[in-house]
Amino acid sequence: MNLILLGGPGAGKGTQAKKLIEKYQIPQVSTGDILREAVKEGTPLGKKAKEFMDAGQLVPDEVVIGIVEERLKQPDCQKGFILDGFPRTVPQAEALDQVLAKMNSGIDHVISIEVDEEELVTRLTGRRTCRNCGQMYHIKFNPPKQEGVCDKCGGELYQRDDDNEATVRSRLATYNQATKPLVDYYAGKGLLRTIPGAGQIDDIFNKICSILGQ
Ligand code: AP5
Ligand code: MG
Ligand code: ZN
Repeated sequence: MNLILLGGPGAGKGTQAKKLIEKYQIPQVSTGDILREAVKEGTPLGKKAKEFMDAGQLVPDEVVIGIVEERLKQPDCQKGFILDGFPRTVPQAEALDQVLAKMNSGIDHVISIEVDEEELVTRLTGRRTCRNCGQMYHIKFNPPKQEGVCDKCGGELYQRDDDNEATVRSRLATYNQATKPLVDYYAGKGLLRTIPGAGQIDDIFNKICSILGQ
């Protein structure tokens, strides 16, 4: 099963992807996570990506397309994958179609998680992320059992560099301008399902699972 999770910054793509990995035993491919890892390691890719990420802008298409193409060729993606944060522009979506066609594969489902903008700002400015395993928390909506410590692995929780209000506003503007057209792109292909992303994390997860029908 090849799935794309669409949705604005903070819609819950990563939160839902982590639950889907467990249920369907397929990997999450998050370009944001891959880029943050490169920034942390200080690789040439990371140095290039950091200024775009800190400004809430997109890393150039050719850079992320190359990353995803490499990743989807790995053996663990053969039985399916969850794309989170990619594609984010129409050229990325077209490139993905070509990459998958070469692999005799394609996208099965596109789920767009819709949340209103002010809610997204509240979610992102209160988000905490585990440095070790990447699990997300929220100081109010989804707090860890012990403040600052990951429930899953005991790792340290931190606030992402781009989770301040100014960068969040810029990420929202980028989403509206560059990424929203993908809703029409996938609706046109008959692949799109839209779900409201407000409410309990588990209820949203159940809706996604019922769309996936497994
Ligand atoms: P990326 O890491 O993809 O960030 P994003 O799209 O802005 O999305 P987020 O990870 O912020 O949100 P999410 O939907 O995963 O929400 P989460 O589940 O954590 O990208 C970062 C940057 O990298 C981009 O700005 C860009 O520069 C670059 N980049 C990445 N991909 C790229 C690409 N393809 N092309 C070009 N550049 C690219 O949840 C958010 C919070 O809400 C958490 O605190 C969570 O606990 C809470 N929450 C979740 N669900 C609920 C709920 N139902 N109710 C209440 N709270 C909830
Ligand atoms: Mg995410
Ligand atoms: Zn952790």
